[in-house]
Amino acid sequence: MTTTYDYSRSQELFQRAVKVIPCGVPGHMSPGVNVPPADYPIFTEKAKGAMFYDLDGNRFIDYMCAYGPMVLGYNNPLVDTAATEQLKSADLTMGASPKMVELAELLVDMVPVADWAFFAKNGGDVTNYATMIARTATNRKKIVMIQGGYHGVAPWMQPPGHHGLIEEDYSHIIRIPWNDVNAFQQAVDQYPDQIAGFIATPYHVPTFYDNELPKEGYWPGIELICRKNDIVLILDDIRHGFRLDMGGSCEYFGFKPDLICFCKALANGFPISALVGRESLKLEAAKIFYTGSYWNQAVPMAAAIACLTELKRLNAPAVMLENGEKLFSAMQTMAAGYGYDLNVTGAWSMPNIRITNDDSNMLHQQWCAECTKRGVFLASHHNLFMSLAHDEAVISQTLEIVDEAFNAL
Ligand SMILES: Cc1ncc(COP(=O)(O)O)c(C=O)c1O
Repeated sequence: MTTTYDYSRSQELFQRAVKVIPCGVPGHMSPGVNVPPADYPIFTEKAKGAMFYDLDGNRFIDYMCAYGPMVLGYNNPLVDTAATEQLKSADLTMGASPKMVELAELLVDMVPVADWAFFAKNGGDVTNYATMIARTATNRKKIVMIQGGYHGVAPWMQPPGHHGLIEEDYSHIIRIPWNDVNAFQQAVDQYPDQIAGFIATPYHVPTFYDNELPKEGYWPGIELICRKNDIVLILDDIRHGFRLDMGGSCEYFGFKPDLICFCKALANGFPISALVGRESLKLEAAKIFYTGSYWNQAVPMAAAIACLTELKRLNAPAVMLENGEKLFSAMQTMAAGYGYDLNVTGAWSMPNIRITNDDSNMLHQQWCAECTKRGVFLASHHNLFMSLAHDEAVISQTLEIVDEAFNAL
């Protein structure tokens, strides 16, 4: 029987952090994002494979994978060697790196839709760039997105009501429900020749809710409306990319967007994002002023080349889908044995799981916390992620800990 973890060093450091950093720790590990906060670690000291270790020396099997970027395992030797070798010769300099061309060629080769690639740092850099390309190409203003969809933190991407936004930020954003082709047609009818682009993730991953796969005919329906009305179809594959198909998640679901945004699993944690697109939009992309101080860094490009090559060699999406199914279906069976209904939605390589026995979600939160404080890190409000480091041995350790957590619940 494992004992539950103590987080006193993490909490002590947080008291220092809160004095000098707004929120103490902004973002995913901010206390309050994971509840109850006392059951979650805050600071990481080291990481290897599927595990990370917090400041108190507690070990966690990580089912959030740094919210997606970790895909080959932390500190993967192939990726890290490629990065350190590149660092020895040059990272950010006056000239562009030959690695940029090599990486663009790799993506163009691997992703059927891609005729060109452009690199930035964060996911939001390229979702924003994609909408600018759509606007330039069509000379129209409006962008259609999905209610509850997430594309980053630029003001237009955030839901009305969030702090710091003004009405004008979203006056040309139309939000429609997921899996509703008619709603898109209605928007097109309401704003004829005014819609520049449609942007969505390959399937719906709303925070706090079950994930929803596309209904039969959804993507072909959306694609057809885009083609008939000259609307640029943008796939936000930042979160799903390379966990469903190495050619982009559109290959998995059988449709062809005009632009695809990649980020998280691109370089196993090194900072880089990519926008790839069709030949017909290359000139439009080139017209736009879009850059950043660090976007030409060669080290993340070298890491991305190593990461993508390894993911492809290992047939990574298929392996993660298969291992995810083994793990989460075993968890469902275990849950049923304890009288709980564990609902699994989305793809097995990045599923959303939720105990549905109470409507308030409190029971699910409590179970995720029971798992986490025994060493299986689970967020209760967000989809999880598999990686290639989550192998048979890690899966069986996970199930032992999860069993104890059910017992404790
Ligand atoms: C689907 C999706 N799009 C865009 C983004 C934004 O990426 P970033 O946080 O790197 O800007 C995210 C980040 O979680 C995402 O999940």
